Amino acid sequence: MALLTCENVSVGYEGKPVAEAITFAVNPKDYLCIVGENGSGKTTLMRTILGLLPPLSGKMTLEEGVRHHIGYLPQQSPVQRDFPASVREVVLSGCLSRGRGPFFTRAQKALADKNIARLNITKIANHCYRELSGGQQQRVLLARALCAADKMLLLDEPAAGLDPQITQEMYDLIGDLNQSGLTIIMITHDVGAAIRNASHILHVSRTPLYFGESEGYAQSPLGSAFLKEANP
Ligand SMILES: Nc1ncnc2c1ncn2[C@@H]1O[C@H](COP(=O)(O)OP(=O)(O)O)[C@@H](O)[C@H]1O
Ligand SMILES: [Mg+2]
Repeated sequence: MALLTCENVSVGYEGKPVAEAITFAVNPKDYLCIVGENGSGKTTLMRTILGLLPPLSGKMTLEEGVRHHIGYLPQQSPVQRDFPASVREVVLSGCLSRGRGPFFTRAQKALADKNIARLNITKIANHCYRELSGGQQQRVLLARALCAADKMLLLDEPAAGLDPQITQEMYDLIGDLNQSGLTIIMITHDVGAAIRNASHILHVSRTPLYFGESEGYAQSPLGSAFLKEANP
């Protein structure tokens, strides 16, 4: 059964749609990239999937129980980059969604340390988050998101502002996580990387949109036009 299905969904703010007629499904272990022009509604759609915004119309269904197993890496803002906490504290805060009491349990601390090791940031676990490079900060936030996720990981432009080598490392990491069984939904403006890495692509635009396997995207009218725009 699909983890997430959207049928003819419109998303937007205060009754005004920014993207309409969105239909797609995400199955376990899929790697979906969401692409589209700036301002086309990609972040708005992701926030709607997370339940932070209601869909304006249409039907969005998450498989039962999945809501509590979604990790989210938001689009970065300068304020978040300046967060005055240690790496370990930032990662541990990802366990908050699972917690009940006021203190972190031993199991939550173990989970944070496991994800710190998984992302190869053990050596900087006691460093202050705001003193790290952009690539290190993204690893920390990915480890944080993994504390919340064991089913689905939602990433909004995780490589924005990173240099090409660090970007590639980030994509490799995300690919490894997908190989290990995690379902990925990632927003990116890097169409080439989306086609190389993802199993499926959703192009959000004024209708008609594209949804299907990555292989077919470059040949589709929307995909070929968008690729030409990206690589003139
Ligand atoms: N909180 C908000 N209230 C009203 N409109 C918003 C809000 N956030 C974004 N928008 C508008 O919604 C549109 C889609 O934005 P967004 O989903 O962030 O696009 P994308 O992520 O594809 O660049 C834009 O026109 C943007 O100005
Ligand atoms: Mg966005």
